[in-house]
Amino acid sequence: MISDKMTAELNIQLNKEFYSAYLYLGMSTWCADVGYNGSAHWFMSQYEEERAHALKVYKYMLDQGGKIELLTIEQPEIKYDSLLQCFEDSLHHEQMMTESFNELCDLALNQKDHASYGFFQWFVEEQIEEEASVGEIIAKLKLVGDGNGIFMIDNQLASRSDTESA
Ligand code: FEO
Repeated sequence: MISDKMTAELNIQLNKEFYSAYLYLGMSTWCADVGYNGSAHWFMSQYEEERAHALKVYKYMLDQGGKIELLTIEQPEIKYDSLLQCFEDSLHHEQMMTESFNELCDLALNQKDHASYGFFQWFVEEQIEEEASVGEIIAKLKLVGDGNGIFMIDNQLASRSDTESA
């Protein structure tokens, strides 16, 4: 049993996770269009992961009897100036998602909703990994600048397995 306020916030979070999936699908599309095939694969894995996050929230809401709304998913950006900009936008987005989970944790604590607080801890951990892995890729891209090294990094990103966390 979760509160009406928690239900409303979870509906927003559910939408944000689906938007994340959509955003990464857009990034994958841009990468594929310009020939960064390794990055296209990496962002496609990210897309799958965000769908899984959305369904995790969805299942929790069902289990807790929260009314699911399926809010409209915003159209994502699909055009980028560079691979670096793509990953920087990704990091910015993940930082926003981290903030979102921090706020959800605050709400759960305020409401003494320990079930939701416990549920959110998985995402709090996941966000640490997501920010770290994207940050690492950005650092590498900055190191190589505009040179051919970008293609080496792109090749490395092709080896991400579907089950690997971002
Ligand atoms: Fe589901 Fe990347 O946050």
